[in-house]
Amino acid sequence: MADAQTATQAPTITRREDYREPDWRVPEIALDFDLDPAATRVRATLQVERNGVHDRPLVLDGDALVPVSVLVDGVEATGWSMDGPNLVIPLTGSAHRIDTEVVIAPERNTQLQGLYASQGMLCTQCEAEGFRRITFFPDRPDVLSRYKVRMTADKARFPVLLANGDPIAQGEGADGRHWAEWHDPFPKPSYLFALVAGDLVANRGSFTTLSGRTVELGIWVRSPDLAKTDHALHALKLSMAWDEQVYGREYDLDVFNIVAVDDFNFGAMENKGLNVFNSRYILADPDTATDYDYDAIAAVVAHEYFHNWSGNRVTCRDWFQLSLKEGFTVFRDQSFSADQGSAAVKRIEDVRGLRASQFPEDSGPLAHPVRPDEYIEISNFYTATIYNKGAEVIRMIHTILGPDKFRAGTDLYFQRFDGTAATCEDFVASMEEASGADLSQFRRWYTQAGTPRVSATLTQEGGRARLSLRQSVPPTPGQPVKEPMVLPLKIKLFGSFTGRAMCDEQLMLFKDDAAEMVFENLSETPVLSINRGFSAPIIVETNRTAADLAFLSAHDDDPFARYEAMQQLMLDTLVASVASGSADHQPVIDAVRNTLTDGALDPAFIAEAVLLPSDSFIGDQMAVVDPEAIFRARESLRRDLGMALNAEWRAAYDAVRANRFEYSPTGKGARRIKTVALGYIAASGAADAAALAYAQFEGADNMTDRQGALTTLASGTSPLREQAIEAFYQRYAGNGLVLDKWFQTQALSSRDDTAQRVEALAQHRDFTLANPNRARALIGAFAVNQRAFHDISGRGYRFVADQLIALDRLNPQTAAKLIPPLGRWKRFDAARAARMRAELERIVATPGLSKDMFEQATKSLD
Ligand code: ARG
Ligand code: ZN
Repeated sequence: MADAQTATQAPTITRREDYREPDWRVPEIALDFDLDPAATRVRATLQVERNGVHDRPLVLDGDALVPVSVLVDGVEATGWSMDGPNLVIPLTGSAHRIDTEVVIAPERNTQLQGLYASQGMLCTQCEAEGFRRITFFPDRPDVLSRYKVRMTADKARFPVLLANGDPIAQGEGADGRHWAEWHDPFPKPSYLFALVAGDLVANRGSFTTLSGRTVELGIWVRSPDLAKTDHALHALKLSMAWDEQVYGREYDLDVFNIVAVDDFNFGAMENKGLNVFNSRYILADPDTATDYDYDAIAAVVAHEYFHNWSGNRVTCRDWFQLSLKEGFTVFRDQSFSADQGSAAVKRIEDVRGLRASQFPEDSGPLAHPVRPDEYIEISNFYTATIYNKGAEVIRMIHTILGPDKFRAGTDLYFQRFDGTAATCEDFVASMEEASGADLSQFRRWYTQAGTPRVSATLTQEGGRARLSLRQSVPPTPGQPVKEPMVLPLKIKLFGSFTGRAMCDEQLMLFKDDAAEMVFENLSETPVLSINRGFSAPIIVETNRTAADLAFLSAHDDDPFARYEAMQQLMLDTLVASVASGSADHQPVIDAVRNTLTDGALDPAFIAEAVLLPSDSFIGDQMAVVDPEAIFRARESLRRDLGMALNAEWRAAYDAVRANRFEYSPTGKGARRIKTVALGYIAASGAADAAALAYAQFEGADNMTDRQGALTTLASGTSPLREQAIEAFYQRYAGNGLVLDKWFQTQALSSRDDTAQRVEALAQHRDFTLANPNRARALIGAFAVNQRAFHDISGRGYRFVADQLIALDRLNPQTAAKLIPPLGRWKRFDAARAARMRAELERIVATPGLSKDMFEQATKSLD
């Protein structure tokens, strides 16, 4: 393949400190596309201007492009040359017009970067460096241009032609072709360019902005999917209103379009005025989408919409600044979602996600700072650290400054950097200037990788309690020694006798290696509540007993802290059980009973709080992960919880069993507790559990209940299991997004034979590596099924490596994203570690390996 390179070639490393302004600016570009899946002709006209005094040539990035013609100021140029994939044009003056022409083949673009074909439509994905696969251009985010786009295509196959900005003109051509022109008045970097051509229909709406501009909205899909777009359209309108209310940000064009595409490398893309989405984050109806899907759709629609300001109006100077737009925008979408429903449940979900993906990244071979210093392939840096830890960093600034000063800071940032390509430093400096706060030490959050650890010890002497804190940041690749971080810690004490708060919540900025806090005049024994609301993205170790944790799980007035106390109690119990083969389950059982039967609590919260930590999170607490022992300990606690609270689970189940579907916070909470209760009933070994699950499966009027029941059955041994798997498949044959769930549910099964079954599923007629969602549903899900993937035979590792080697030939970006589970070998015993390394070595030795995979696999071996 064109951009393949062998592992023996020295990869080029791009370094942040090497940043230089572009040699040439491109204030205007006109693109003319003669669209055809087999051969699309792309003519580009660039107005280029020399930036500063220098005599360097114009270097236009290209990736697998061959120039058909190159003109300088309208005259066929002769002096140009190729430097590897790039086009080099010597120029004499300070401003020139450059015309180039290339021919590309979208239908052969399996990487899904640049212009590609998906299910009969043509669409683009340019971030980060896909534009250079479409035309020759200085493909870097600090080159901002005004775009005019003209598309010509066969009218029958591609009746709809969309691009960024506003539609300007359209008309008929010869031979059944037609054309359309779009202009985007806002200068933008090439990564925000997009076009879509296809046989599409729109769910249309409109939104009137604060200042009275009417914006025409369109969610574009293939016609059978039209009925599944109302939720996304509604979420878009809510997002537009929210950004006005909370950040004072209005939309700025007359149209805003979203297109759903089935083959897509990640979630969605914020192209100016033309967002392109993975269809899984648009399409929803009760029969095919779970509550989780509905929430994710609203969150991703909001995320991409919010990028219009945090990303598009103010963009990134270079890709090292990626978290400037992504961390901030994730924080914005998290806040939006928190405002739509239960803020506590949203925070719990976000922290669970952070712990499942970012903490392991930060403690492994691919750890990197929120603002990285170097990369080989930038696509590998669209990570949980950039996105989710980046969002936590913004959240901490919000916590430290308070909402009003934070808003003053974002106002200043947007006003000062509108229309420019900015840096993380610009953001932090705006926050400081608007608030008067000193964030100098806080900046270490951008430079130091690794999850800080805090040990917190509360000791009491009479009426006084002393909280002693110590912090450390572990070494990470390239960063052996760390400085202390600024940790905003929300702290409160509760009286263990009365259950009453003994002080107001304190916000402590813990900045040194060690600190102390003294509480006076205490009338009873205090219990420590710390890092409330997860105010800092850290690991906290305390000297709290099981009784303290059980107490907090029932009495803390911060719901997140209640959840956290329960999780810690469960974790301590499970870790003890793994270490010694057994543990006292009674404190967990009592705490779960208390929460489950607390009528004052939101069922959605209860459902989160009573869930046991995942196998992999338990493993993260241990020096050497023992997947089988963890699985046994967790199953044993689940069984005991199921049996001891049998009556309570059944009562919780029966209370909501007959509910009809309704998409509302109450409806969602009821469905969540229903499936959690079903899981515990099954875990108890109750004779009727499978029948109960099957009845839920068959009788469901929504996908949440149906998939919840299928998940329970898929991990069990009842013959109803096969019946449900088959019935699900038959019912949804032909619906790709639901078939993804079918593959995924089986890949996540806790049964002994999951590895064999997943190997067989990889041969299923509906399995394909060409569709990223499908590849992730089977391979990605299996690789995070700790017990199955880490089967001591090593067959899980071999299977995943085989699949990734095959996937890399088609789609390096998607393949490289699935490397991290193999890179966690240091956390396992010698036998597993050796087998994991052997697979990584086999990957690295594969001829023609992409640089995406090369970077991830070689780093994972270190
Ligand atoms: N900017 C997109 C977002 O909204 C994601 C782009 C991901 N690009 C990539 N090469 N992985 O988050
Ligand atoms: Zn984003």
